[in-house]
This record gives sequence, C-alpha cells and structure tokens, in this order.
Amino acid sequence: MIIADEIRWNRKQLQGLKLLSDPKKKFIKFYGGSRSGKTFEIIRAIRIRALKYPGSKHLVARFSFANAKKTIWLQTMLPEFRKDEKLGLCKIIKDVAQVHYKNGSIVILGGLEPSSIDSVLAAEYGTIFITEANENRYEIIENLFSRLNDTSKDLEGNPIKLKFIIDLNPTVETSWTNVLFIKGLDPISKTPKANFEEYASLWFSPYDNEENLAKGYITTLENLSTAKRRRFLEGKYSSYEGLVFPVDEDVHIVDDFEIPANWKRIRAIDFGYTHPFVCLWLAYDKANDRAFAYREWIQTRWTVRAHAEKIKQLSILDLPEDLRNSKEAWRLAEKLYSATVCDHDAEDRATLEENGIGPVKPANKEVLAGIDNVIDLMDFENGKKPQVYIFRSLAGTRESLDSYRWRDTTMSNRGRAKDREVLKEDDDPADTLRYGLCEIFPIVAPISLNGLSLNLGSSWR
Ligand SMILES: Nc1ncnc2c1ncn2[C@@H]1O[C@H](COP(=O)(O)OP(=O)(O)O)[C@@H](O)[C@H]1O
Ligand SMILES: [Mg+2]
Repeated sequence: MIIADEIRWNRKQLQGLKLLSDPKKKFIKFYGGSRSGKTFEIIRAIRIRALKYPGSKHLVARFSFANAKKTIWLQTMLPEFRKDEKLGLCKIIKDVAQVHYKNGSIVILGGLEPSSIDSVLAAEYGTIFITEANENRYEIIENLFSRLNDTSKDLEGNPIKLKFIIDLNPTVETSWTNVLFIKGLDPISKTPKANFEEYASLWFSPYDNEENLAKGYITTLENLSTAKRRRFLEGKYSSYEGLVFPVDEDVHIVDDFEIPANWKRIRAIDFGYTHPFVCLWLAYDKANDRAFAYREWIQTRWTVRAHAEKIKQLSILDLPEDLRNSKEAWRLAEKLYSATVCDHDAEDRATLEENGIGPVKPANKEVLAGIDNVIDLMDFENGKKPQVYIFRSLAGTRESLDSYRWRDTTMSNRGRAKDREVLKEDDDPADTLRYGLCEIFPIVAPISLNGLSLNLGSSWR
C-alpha cells in the first residue's frame, strides 16, 4: 500500500496506533488537551484505511456541519487528503466535503444536527469518527452505532475491522463520553456494558505533541484560568462541583427547533473587542414559564458597527420566510424583540442604536443575585421543571457554561459555593445569558413583606 509521506508519530500517537490497529477494540476514544495530535492521527488512520480497503466508506462528523467544515475539514482533512490527491489517488469534492478514491473508497464529512443527521444515517460505514463528540446527545451516538457496517476487504482478502472513534476535550464527569468509555456503563440505563472489552480510551496531552506545535502555544495554555487550563491543557474531566451554572446536558440542552411566532423574544449583548463580543437571542414560552437561548453571535476584534450589521442579518431569520428578502426586512425584524439588553457602556449602546439596533437598555448587572437567579431557573430537583434551556447548536455558549467556575474549589454541591467568587476569564457568553435571563425573569428583591417576596418589574409573566 502507498503512503505518500513519512510521518514521525509522537509517543502518545504510537500508543494510539496500537489501539487503532487492535482488532479487539471497536470503540475508541482519544481525549485530552487541545492540539495534542488526536484529530490528526485519526484522520490519517482513515486515510490509510480508505487506501487499504477498496470500496470502503468512512464518516467524519461533528454536531454542526458548518463547524465541521470550518474546523476539521479545513484544518486537518484537506491538507491530509490533498497528499493523496496530488498522487492521483483520490479527488476531493469540496462543495459536498467528500473525498472519492480511485479504488472506490469514500470519505464523507457530515453533521449530526437535526438538519443533517438523516443523510448521515442513510449510509453504512467502516469507520465512524465523531470529533468534539461531547457536543452530541448520547441517543444520536447510539443511533450511529447501527450504521457501522462494511464488508470491504484488503487485497489479501482480510475484511475491514469496523471502528467507531471519538475525540474530545473533556468537560464534566457526568458526560456520556466518561460514563460509557471510562466507567463502562450505558449512559442511559446506567447498567454495565456487556461488550466493554471492545472499548478503549487514550488520554493525550499537548506536552506529548510539543515538537509539532508553534513556540509559545503551551505557555499560552499554561496561563489560562484554572478551569480552562484543566480542560485544554490537562484535558481532564472535572466534577460538577465548582461549576457556577450546573448545566446538565440531558436536561438543559435541547435540539434546535423553530421558535413559535407568538413567543416573546429578546436579545442580550455583552460588549468586547479583545474579549469576545456576544449577542444571544432568547425566547420566552409563556405557557410553560420557561426560556430558550436559541441563537448566538460570538466574535472578537470587530467594531460595534460591524456587529450591528451582523445582528441585523441574524435577526432577519426570525421573520417569516416571505418577509426576509425585502430591503426593509431588518426594520421589521427589530420590532420582534421585546427588549435588547446590554452591559453598561453608554457609547457602545449608542453606537448600536445609531446602526439600527434597539432600542437598547442597560442590563441588570448584579452578579451574585443574577447568578443565583439563573441557578434557581436551572434547578430541576424535587420535581421542579427547569426554566432555562439552551439550543444544542450554541457551541460557544455551552463551552463558556462548561468552564464558568467559582474560584474556590472546595465547595458544596451543585454550584453553590462557600466562597462566592467567580473566575473572571472567558465568561462572556455565560454573563450574556445571565443578562438575558434576568430580563425575562427579573431578580426577586430580597425584601419580604409578610413572608412574601416582592417581585420587582416583572412585565413578562
Ligand atoms: N505526528 C505529527 N507530525 C506532525 N504534525 C503533527 C503530528 N501530530 C499532530 N500534528 C500537528 O499538531 C497540531 C495539533 O494536532 P491535532 O490533531 O489537531 O490536535 P488535537 O486534535 O489533539 O487538538 C496540528 O497542527 C497537527 O497537524
Ligand atoms: Mg482535535
């Protein structure tokens, strides 16, 4: 078999190769810090399998197809598969993000969100590789297990060994990626997996891959906040303890759906330039007294003016389809929002309004009371229904919530800290969500009259 280019694997990757070629291991997880060589190695393994087993089919997917194209396709797949294309071994079909080998093998890029999953499920594959796997619900992954089927053989007649591979930077210990691959339990029934001997996990660290990284990258990771460092440098699972907002993937994260036209909508904005600027769109379901964060815009190093244009474009998507194309669509869209709340920079607020956004009003920025408010809205213990939900596609917001932690790590359960100091790094989307929620569900004033608390300014319920 032809492998066009030589590669020097790092030590961890050599262990990874052993796992990938172990016939007894069918489900393989590469997890750990970022830029430690996980994705690169898996894509290369897929390239080798496509060449070795003529007519075989391989899926590479992440939750959002658009994100998959921006990340793994551009950064890892294109450069790797181009090496084979140059040798005339395959053709890269860019607009559909597929690689067609002359030997009949196909590698396809897919998305697992509702709009893409059906086409992914329509085929069977010899390799399924889910990158950033923790973005997905376990039910989707379980569905995909049944798509692992391929009868192609190598030139000596040996059948392909099916592989289901995932990679990720770990989040919280309750993640299905931990429950299934480390604890060996079915993530839904929590009973032991009968075929657990087919599962394997390998932990990667950027230190292992230092020789392939730009100078200074590791130092940047070393200087991150504790929570981010844990996730991106150490690449370890963390406990729920210490998380400010106890987001439970199975409870608070929901598949995207069309927001009903009669729900109230608001936007919440947190300004930033070197730190990200964040705009979140939230909708309020009055019948059930609950809110959904349904869209995000997160971007660094743009002017407020440029953000205003982007926000207008995205807001137009909230109009019925037949109204979206007129020149004045954005004016109609602006009328959809009951409020647009922002942090307090008066000049930036004025710039937004000058560029057609708004009216814009200052958000309630009481940090601790606001956080308690959001924690209470998220609470689902003792039969209470949570009142906050986040669309699965909001990758940046979810990322921020997963690493938004109290400074003190020795605290009581589920996010209530003894020492209530919040780490102030990379918290922008989490803060923005708080502004939005405190607009929809105003903070209940800590004054009580005859034991009844006074709810100030609730125009919503
Ligand atoms: N064995 C290797 N030889 C050369 N470059 C490598 C090797 N392994 C990884 N890299 C490079 O290191 C960087 C990080 O690898 P990647 O697989 O994207 O990390 P991860 O998926 O763990 O975040 C990429 O630029 C990749 O091309
Ligand atoms: Mg990766």
